[in-house]
Amino acid sequence: MEDTRYLTFALGKGRLAKKTLELFEKIGITCESMKDSATRKLIFVNEDLKFRFFLAKGPDVPTYVEYGAADIGVVGEDTILEENRNIYEVLDLGFGKCRMCVCGPKDAKELLQHHELIRVASKYPRIAKEYFYNKKYQTVEIIKLNGSIELAPIVGLSEVIVDIVETGSTLRENGLDVLEEVCPLSARMVVNPVSMKMENERITRLITALREELDKE
Ligand code: PRP
Repeated sequence: MEDTRYLTFALGKGRLAKKTLELFEKIGITCESMKDSATRKLIFVNEDLKFRFFLAKGPDVPTYVEYGAADIGVVGEDTILEENRNIYEVLDLGFGKCRMCVCGPKDAKELLQHHELIRVASKYPRIAKEYFYNKKYQTVEIIKLNGSIELAPIVGLSEVIVDIVETGSTLRENGLDVLEEVCPLSARMVVNPVSMKMENERITRLITALREELDKE
């Protein structure tokens, strides 16, 4: 039989990876070795299907896929927008639903309405810039942070933040509100453009099976 090449998947670590593997199981793609939470292994193989899986930090997933180190990736739409890589977005997986929002104390709403020159803290400077400069035509100063973004308006680093809101409890517990919605988000499957050509049949079969499964839910 002709030697089939491995298809390599990069999954964003954490909840998205868990949900992705659950979905894959439903269409008969399993990877038992990946379920061992104690393992320090980084790459997992399903020899029968010739699939390889690895876990990566979310923002690195589009990088692995763009360079072809992974054929396929699963990552949040927020990361895809922020990383702006040369990859194909092929499927909305429907989970990991949340919203990208401008948040802050209630009284900051006025600063947004009056297009004041304010400071905006975010883990997503590209998304923040795109929203304020190209959608709202508001000049702002964007400050890049790496986490716990809600702190910024509380301690006076910025007037507002651009961040993900899922349940809203982080905002509530810190006395902040959603002031404007930037866009809805969910987990997406992405594909390397060359892989899409070279492995078109296998990848198309996979996308079709996933789409059918998602339609049932
Ligand atoms: C994300 C996001 C918010 C929070 C929103 O942070 O940046 O802080 O989750 O979720 P909620 O609306 O359900 O409260 P994450 O936990 O990923 O960590 P981070 O603050 O270090 O980015």
